[in-house]
Amino acid sequence: MADGEDHPRAKFHAMTEGTAEDWGVIARAAAEFQRGLPDRILQHLQLLRGDCGGFAVDRFEHCLQTATRAYRAGEDEEYVVCALVHDIGDTLGPANHADVAGVIMQPYVSEENHFMVARHAVFQGYYYFHHLGLDRDMREQFRGHPAFERTARFCHQYDQAAFDPGYDSMPLEAFEPMLRRVFAAPKRSMYLRSDKAA
Ligand SMILES: [Fe+2]
Ligand SMILES: [Fe+2]
Repeated sequence: MADGEDHPRAKFHAMTEGTAEDWGVIARAAAEFQRGLPDRILQHLQLLRGDCGGFAVDRFEHCLQTATRAYRAGEDEEYVVCALVHDIGDTLGPANHADVAGVIMQPYVSEENHFMVARHAVFQGYYYFHHLGLDRDMREQFRGHPAFERTARFCHQYDQAAFDPGYDSMPLEAFEPMLRRVFAAPKRSMYLRSDKAA
């Protein structure tokens, strides 16, 4: 980071030399870095602007539209943020974009919302895999999972329906407060101590 000179740093040059004092310095820096996550998510979402990938709207509009449809249907805040972020992996994970979004969201959302985001690509396939010589019923491998119906409904009501250039999607700013609340602090992480649970 450009402003790193002003911040305290650990003294060790190899972790074998690390002390609790060093790791206190690093833990405080990590907490500060965590607070910047919502800004990084917002910036990365905007990388989706301009690339339509052959669809009628670009990937950014598709995300806004998916989230707007979920919001207007009365879904809760965490769900709406999942809808907004579900395709954030398109830039770095073109062959497994849902996995990328799932990994990013996992610490901050419920297990069923994590499943919904991480598996949405397979469920979305129901609407087009048969046009590409693939099995549209690939999602059936998850039949019986507690979040199966939730994920099928997400794709049916919101994701597969969010390619309309004429739809009046809400702007990104409208979702910012929701996104900041959902990404405020991880609920699940191996870095959380059981005696310091929120
Ligand atoms: Fe997707
Ligand atoms: Fe999508």
